[in-house]
Amino acid sequence: MKDQKKIVALTGAGISAESGITTFRDSGGLWEQYDVMEVASIDGWRKNPQLVLRFYNDRRKQLEEVKPNAAHRILAELEKDFDVTVVTQNVDNLHERAGSSKIIHLHGELTGARSSVNPDMIVDIGYRPIEWGEKAEDGSQLRPHIVWFGEAVPMIETAADAVALADMVIIIGTSLNVYPAAGLVGYAPRNASIYLIDPNDVPYSGRNITIIREKATAGMEKLKQLMIVH
Ligand code: OAD
Repeated sequence: MKDQKKIVALTGAGISAESGITTFRDSGGLWEQYDVMEVASIDGWRKNPQLVLRFYNDRRKQLEEVKPNAAHRILAELEKDFDVTVVTQNVDNLHERAGSSKIIHLHGELTGARSSVNPDMIVDIGYRPIEWGEKAEDGSQLRPHIVWFGEAVPMIETAADAVALADMVIIIGTSLNVYPAAGLVGYAPRNASIYLIDPNDVPYSGRNITIIREKATAGMEKLKQLMIVH
């Protein structure tokens, strides 16, 4: 096998915005409509699990109705010429549906449910709701397979190892507000080239960085052209 250049894409809610999924922190975003600690934290789950189930059941239902966009697709197409790993904070499955093959989900996946005591006891539920009273194999309440605020991020080391080997890192549609995900780019080798695609200002400054101030689809199209030229 030829020695392919390694690309790691760090993606966030912005890459799925043009598919119709609302981001979290933009104006009109989910965290303006909901209290993040009520619906996306382990304390929120303990306090009002039914509310949390409803929140993620709604997200899952919406996911069935949306489609990957050109940004997801271009990322998948890059696999023809590069060794691409997608590290996403997103819990949607749009990278999978666009055809990417190596995807690390830092914050879990909407189409999964898990035991509320054992994070490794995960089942695929597709797009159906999780009901209150529905049990995992170990008898505990089924909960969304989501990494909430207040919980460890089990995939972070795998993701950091991938970034540490990257020749190129592409950051797409994340406000870089949430750690440890936001710190991943710091693992990139000194000589790696970094591209950041976002229509808004993202407070990140690093070495070798090129900012493409565009929405994800236009930005990925631009980056693709740049990569063909070089
Ligand atoms: P945010 O909502 O914090 O940030 C979205 C980013 O996408 C912002 O920088 C926007 O400017 C950008 N954006 C908006 N529209 C875009 C478009 N069409 N194309 C490209 N970029 C666009 O989302 P994340 O950074 O992904 O975690 O949020 C990180 C985590 O915070 C999420 O995984 C979630 C949330 O709380 C949990 O719930 C555990």
